[in-house]
Amino acid sequence: MSNYHIKNLEEYFQVYRKSVRDPETFWEEIAEENFLWRKPWDRVLEHDLTQPAVRWFQGAQLNITENCIDRHLYARGSKTALLFEPNDPSEEPQHITYKQLHERVCKFANVLKEQGVKKGDRVCIYLPMIPELAIALLACARIGAIHSVVFAGFSSTALATRINDCDCSIVVTSDGGYRGAKTIDLKGIVDEALEHCKGVTTVLVVKRIHSEINMHKGRDIWLQPLLDEASSVCPAELMEAEDPLFILYTSGSTGKPKGMVHTTAGYMVYTAYTFKNVFQYREDDVYWCTADIGWITGHSYIVYGPLANGATTVLFEGVPSYPDWSRFWAVVEKHKVNQFYTAPTAIRALAKERLDFSENHDLSSLKILGTVGEPINEEAWHWYNDNIGKKQCPIVDTWWQTETGGIMISPIPYATPTIPTFATLPLPGIQPALMDEEGNTLHGNSVSGRLCIGFPWPAMARTIWGDHQRYKDTYFSTFKGYYFTGDGALRDTTGYYRITGRVDDVIIVSGHNLGTAPIEDAINEHPAVAESAIVGFPHEIKGNALYGFVILKETGEQRDPANLRKEINQIITEHIGPIAKLDKIQFTEGLPKTRSGKIMRRILRKIACGETDQLGDTSTLLNPEVVDAIIKDVL
Ligand code: WT7
Repeated sequence: MSNYHIKNLEEYFQVYRKSVRDPETFWEEIAEENFLWRKPWDRVLEHDLTQPAVRWFQGAQLNITENCIDRHLYARGSKTALLFEPNDPSEEPQHITYKQLHERVCKFANVLKEQGVKKGDRVCIYLPMIPELAIALLACARIGAIHSVVFAGFSSTALATRINDCDCSIVVTSDGGYRGAKTIDLKGIVDEALEHCKGVTTVLVVKRIHSEINMHKGRDIWLQPLLDEASSVCPAELMEAEDPLFILYTSGSTGKPKGMVHTTAGYMVYTAYTFKNVFQYREDDVYWCTADIGWITGHSYIVYGPLANGATTVLFEGVPSYPDWSRFWAVVEKHKVNQFYTAPTAIRALAKERLDFSENHDLSSLKILGTVGEPINEEAWHWYNDNIGKKQCPIVDTWWQTETGGIMISPIPYATPTIPTFATLPLPGIQPALMDEEGNTLHGNSVSGRLCIGFPWPAMARTIWGDHQRYKDTYFSTFKGYYFTGDGALRDTTGYYRITGRVDDVIIVSGHNLGTAPIEDAINEHPAVAESAIVGFPHEIKGNALYGFVILKETGEQRDPANLRKEINQIITEHIGPIAKLDKIQFTEGLPKTRSGKIMRRILRKIACGETDQLGDTSTLLNPEVVDAIIKDVL
């Protein structure tokens, strides 16, 4: 495995140069040496980023589950693949070996087949963080069905939109889920959603919390009895390299959520390669990523990347605060976790709690710490480094996106010297570029601009489900021939990258990607609301929080602002989910608009951030007078 495991900075630069000089040979060697192919490719790469049309390993045939499971059976059959840590610490953890995982995936796959699911069909998965979630993904992949996982914190409306967008006829869910001291009525949410999803004929229900639920006759079926009857032999479907593996929705700055389509071979090669290098995984390590499988982080770095490497990957059902804020560290100690990957928002929340929560646990197994989802601030970085890593564990600040499929810019432990707040250097094969607003490439160091990627990489999303034009318009039209990330970044004097945040109307709240438009659409559904605008403002724990400026309809009626605020957040919870609730809601008479009628969010953002001395020229606005009125009432 010549270029599989990078060990020092010199080697990184060598490998990086090679990957850029001759990307095809670089990825071909990795693909050849590390995976199981049923038929080799005819061409490594065909690409045209203006269309965009990108094909990796065209002509190859494979099944990703054979790579993630079957090929490990001989050497690692009794090794733990999934290590399930339940919400309740007194419930026994489950060590699911590769052999058991194989059997459970095959049985589940056979159940899907019996329910009529065929290659290319979309299967919606709406499950809590239990083993069946990972198994459901793999069962779909086994038979070539396309999974569309919807994070179980999303509301029924959000779920219905996603089910309908890609025409799922089957949903996999559970009677409910545990989340700290609470239980979540997932089946109830599915029932509500399905009132608006006429295409769904089958709901498979996992029993988790043993609650009383309504089983819709002719539609809902308990999963376990079907699994008990199913055969544990299920030959893997032969997939073409570019057959879709899954759809995962992400919010955009406008319009409905975008169903990003990831395909099979490139995604597998890239997630496996980056997992191995970024986490320096060694046989017998225990790796834990705290994300939910409902997000891309969970797809790529709980399920596919680790399993493709034959790793032991922890699947945690709970939350960091239950039964108390020591939970993460208790789990690290209990399972002797070696690599720990979490989000800055979790670190900030933990850093606010008493230090003895971590001090009372043995964290000496830890070797590598990771973060993902948003920029990590310096204070949080140091807290993590000092108290969790004890200054002995490299911190990998990994920048990437749902669209990129895998980690793009990140230190490689022991090779890349880290600097707090810097994602540092591009991984091999990744060619970042910074652009100014006119579309000129900014060369050299000490520059900042819009972050783009100038060459295809194997795990990039290939399209938006059902809307290739939107894919092209959103990502490939701002800068011709480049993928535009939507983020701003700077490159320092040494060539290190620091991600400075979104340059569009997407706001990252607690590491969740939220588009302003869908939230505004939800608020505007309230009968008393005429118009609204959402901006982000800095928040100690969440990174950003949401500030809503709301214009009420003139009805002559007096309404209680406190009640209205509650109702508005209720509507947002129903349409999107509690993650999108507003921290502040200011009622106002008007919103600053350009002469063409566009809301000037830039001005609202400054006001929400308390930077009213930096508003710049407001005289060109259609209604400059509203700015003073808004400032006067700012919350
Ligand atoms: C956006 C993508 C990729 C998994 C989770 C988020 C922000 C992500 C970092 C980081 C600064 C980061 C970016 C990006 N982001 N990681 N290490 N430093 N910003 O996936 O929901 O698709 O969000 O998250 O703004 O564009 P996502």
